[in-house]
Amino acid sequence: MIVWSVVKVGLLGLVVSGCWSEPGLVDDAFTPAQWTRLQAELTVPALDACALSTGTWAQPRCDRLARLGQQLFFEPAFSRNGATACVTCHDPGRWFVDAREDNQVSRSVTEQSTLGWTRRNAISVVNVGLTATLAPKQQVFTWVGKYASSGEVLALALTAMGQPKVPASYASVAGVIRNSPSYAAQYADVFARSSGLASDEQVFQDVELAFEAYMRRLGSVDAPFDRYLAGDASAIDDRARRGFAVFVGRGTCIECHRGPAFTDLQFHSTGVPQVGHAPAVDPGRVEITDAPDDTGRFRTSSLRNIAETGPYMHDGALASLDDVIWFYRRGGGVAGYEGDKDPRLTPLELTDDDARDLEAFLRTLTGAEIDPSLRVDLRMPMACAGATCAP
Ligand code: HEC
Ligand code: HEC
Repeated sequence: MIVWSVVKVGLLGLVVSGCWSEPGLVDDAFTPAQWTRLQAELTVPALDACALSTGTWAQPRCDRLARLGQQLFFEPAFSRNGATACVTCHDPGRWFVDAREDNQVSRSVTEQSTLGWTRRNAISVVNVGLTATLAPKQQVFTWVGKYASSGEVLALALTAMGQPKVPASYASVAGVIRNSPSYAAQYADVFARSSGLASDEQVFQDVELAFEAYMRRLGSVDAPFDRYLAGDASAIDDRARRGFAVFVGRGTCIECHRGPAFTDLQFHSTGVPQVGHAPAVDPGRVEITDAPDDTGRFRTSSLRNIAETGPYMHDGALASLDDVIWFYRRGGGVAGYEGDKDPRLTPLELTDDDARDLEAFLRTLTGAEIDPSLRVDLRMPMACAGATCAP
């Protein structure tokens, strides 16, 4: 492991666009060797949206599977109230996070519902393909690492949509496919079997795969920072370049936010307080592992597109990037959190200028908007089931 704290951080204000003003130092901050290591560490690997968790699918079958998944992502028939879909909490118009008002943690169904709130802040599904590529078949999905693929998160989504826990909801999920002539036909075409003859569990697993195939296309990894890392010094401004040096150096952010997704995909306690509609206590990762040390630990978040995906932290406790940076300047949470805070979080000696630079850097991690054709509702008028069926 590389000890980033040895990285030398340049003198503020001396960074000149595209030029190395201290001999041998890249952007006044990194030796050529450090810069090469950073490039190796942070460059996004080749991504294949059809390399699904169950194996690689050939085109054009993979495209048809993803197309089915896109329709299902907008489909409210999976929910108990017939009015909630994945898009309710993963808004295609807002980087697939919960864009509703009062979205600190996600509301489970509609306002009329008595089901109340989910426990946590919805995670953007943009770049789940990058996560899967970096940690294939590892249980890294959700804040606590409950599932090994993005499609498997369907089980949790169903409870957020008012359905019973799996396997009790296998039949209702299979029913959505079977009761819609359009879905049943697409299913038969893609899986080469009839949903009517397949078991409920089989159809459920196939639906998981359709969701995965769709979500794996929702990638945005071509941010200005990536162009800078690849050698285009003008892709980000001086302030953001200084901010990157803070991120790697005195900010020690890269200790945990490392790799091409800016996350080690590990679980740490940073002492985030439980606030607002979040439950008073969230045990975190210990729920999955039963290891007492995992109490209060949550997955390090990816920082890609971070400027667009607030509120922040597992319970949405922090509203803005400025709040997040203040949180770290103080050394993370202060008191009253579950578990033991990671010892690496100690108060940071950052100036207000450093903090502004750091935020400017974080803002360079926003990639291109997701292809609009992946953000529209492709459902046929007849693709509906149960209560949501229009005449
Ligand atoms: C009521 C709001 C809500 C709905 C509806 C919902 N989600 Fe989520 N989603 C969340 C929340 C909250 C989390 C974080 C859960 C956790 O970590 O405990 C999440 C997390 C996820 C993740 C994990 C992403 C990652 O990087 O780990 C995926 C994938 C996902 N949802 C997919 C879906 C799909 C597919 C659907 C529709 C079948 C769906 N969600 C419906 C709120 C929702
Ligand atoms: C000890 C590991 C560690 C270090 C060091 C660290 N982080 Fe984090 N970061 C995490 C974890 C874990 C979370 C999720 C915490 C939670 O939700 O409870 C997180 C969450 C975040 C989030 C919110 C992401 C979201 O989608 O909600 C941002 C932004 C962030 N960190 C930025 C930074 C910056 C900037 C630094 C350096 C000043 C930093 N982090 C240092 C582990 C770390």
